[in-house]
Amino acid sequence: MLKTIIRKISRPLINKHFYSTNRNAIILGIETSCDDTGCAIVDSEGHILGECLNSQHLVHLRNGGIIPPIAQNLHRQNIENVVNTTIKQANIDFSQIDAVATTVKPGLPLSLSIGLKYGKHLCRTKGKLFIPIHHMESHALTCRMHDNSIEFPFLVLLISGGHCLLVVAQDVDKFLLLGESIDDAPGEAFDKMARRMKLMNLPEFATLSGGQAIELAASKGTDAEQFKFSVPLLQYKNCNFSLAGIKNQVWRHIVQQEKLHNVEADALIPDVFNLCAGFQLTVTRHLCHRVQRAIEFVKLHNLIPEEKQTLVVSGGAACNNFINKALQVVCNEIGYRLVRPPPKLCTDNGVMIAWNGIERWRKNLGVMKDFDSVDIEKRSPLGINMIKEVTDAHISCKWIKLGNLYET
Ligand code: KG4
Ligand code: ZN
Repeated sequence: MLKTIIRKISRPLINKHFYSTNRNAIILGIETSCDDTGCAIVDSEGHILGECLNSQHLVHLRNGGIIPPIAQNLHRQNIENVVNTTIKQANIDFSQIDAVATTVKPGLPLSLSIGLKYGKHLCRTKGKLFIPIHHMESHALTCRMHDNSIEFPFLVLLISGGHCLLVVAQDVDKFLLLGESIDDAPGEAFDKMARRMKLMNLPEFATLSGGQAIELAASKGTDAEQFKFSVPLLQYKNCNFSLAGIKNQVWRHIVQQEKLHNVEADALIPDVFNLCAGFQLTVTRHLCHRVQRAIEFVKLHNLIPEEKQTLVVSGGAACNNFINKALQVVCNEIGYRLVRPPPKLCTDNGVMIAWNGIERWRKNLGVMKDFDSVDIEKRSPLGINMIKEVTDAHISCKWIKLGNLYET
């Protein structure tokens, strides 16, 4: 078993575009994988010299979800201004920038294509090196920018609008995938259910993302147990996630309540805050179960030395303080350190891409002089897939009691 892991890890990584990068650097990062046009300039010490972010959130909120051609148009309209504002803020000349790092995978193809085109254009016209970036790799590494005590290997939970992953980060470009969502991502489930509950019809929630709206609504609930939920995948002894079942349970509760209370088209069900509290609690319990099993698997195979035992949580849904509180309970109990980047670096941004560029520059991984053939990829798994090994380990866990998280 351990042999399989070692064999998988030690596969050689061949980089055709090798380029020497044996010095400090200043990197410009571009992010356009979904609905945020982001740019930042970061140096080798992790100083953010300039940053700019244009969020399309309000446009997509009005449309009831992201419509890819609209997202693409907005990226196209904003990219130049976002990059120029970043450079102006950094107050440096473009000649001081060593390379341009750009998200090329995974993400919405129409959105990714704008960033890639602009990143390549900058490199061609200014004679710079290009560093293609994996969006999830940068979510995983962001925490190292502010905290250089986070050394490889460490465990990462990535929860966002498009992704849900549990990985061991072994190096900048080396990951072991322990679990992933078999259907929706947490942020996606929060967004869809917030819409179905019509939370944005209340002024206080009108401009929030689905996840923010559910978290706020849940905090106003008085009884998280009013609506019954079952936690998904209890019988599956792996680290995969499933949010579709929880979503269906929420949906059924709403339909029942709408009938029971004769709720009008634009109105909300009377106990919507309790429903949000139960929904958020069930998602949180599910995430904690999968993390607990992942930690057990890591222990079983000695994948992280005791002095480095750290769980990093990142991605947009990691902004959720309730989820963070529950993960803290799990980590305290098991003796792990929990690390979360500042919330504005958990959601999509240019800083994490520029920092990923710095991490790759330091190790000369994928720093390219010839980048014509680089293309976007809609889907791109992160790391070596260990899900079969995790499943085969068949680890039973005695679930850590989370306590009453709404009260403490
Ligand atoms: O990482 P991100 O900016 O974009 C993706 O790569 O998906 O994540 C956006 C997601 C949205 O689905 C949003 O609802 C969710 O992050 N989110 C939250 C919170 N804030 C943002 N989910 C739960 N609780 C929050 N406080
Ligand atoms: Zn993201």
